Amino acid sequence: MADEVLEILFDEQQIRARVADLAREITKEYAGRRLVLVSILRGSVFFATDLARQIELPLSMDFLSISSYGEDSEGVVRITKDLEENIAGKDVLVIEDIIDTGFTLKYLLRTLASRNPKSLEVCALLDRRARRIIEIELKYIGFEIPDKFVVGYGLDYRQRYRNLPYIGVLKPD
Ligand code: IMP
Ligand code: MG
Repeated sequence: MADEVLEILFDEQQIRARVADLAREITKEYAGRRLVLVSILRGSVFFATDLARQIELPLSMDFLSISSYGEDSEGVVRITKDLEENIAGKDVLVIEDIIDTGFTLKYLLRTLASRNPKSLEVCALLDRRARRIIEIELKYIGFEIPDKFVVGYGLDYRQRYRNLPYIGVLKPD
């Protein structure tokens, strides 16, 4: 698998350090509160579980799965697995792998906001600003990345490469 990778953008150590920073920030800002981490399947699972282990607050974790219709779906998103937990009145932090155009997240936030959480914020591992179409406020960002397709640490290409411990760019095939 590693010989299919052209370039490593962030190695294990860099990711670990950044996740620890984010967890510290979150622990501080939500002090005295209880968090619901909403991890968006499947890309954010590695990030969410690493982050959760370092947040020193009582929290619960829930998972949501969505599918978009095709390539140019432009915001046509469907929930394929909904949350188990009722988020009304709770402090919700959405954990995403990467924000690209922003369509997925916009739909998601609209849906979650309609359930009346006490607060609703986003923590994204990666932010690819160059391709943003919908402006969204991201409270926490792991890394900003250039306009390249990335894999690893949860991110896939056709369901592969999620288990790479680093984030990298594939060689052209
Ligand atoms: P958006 O709706 O355009 O922001 O798309 C975001 C979603 O597309 C992410 O949650 C990922 O699942 C997927 N995605 C976007 N860019 C990449 C990438 O570089 N690698 C793997 N998945 C990606
Ligand atoms: Mg995703």
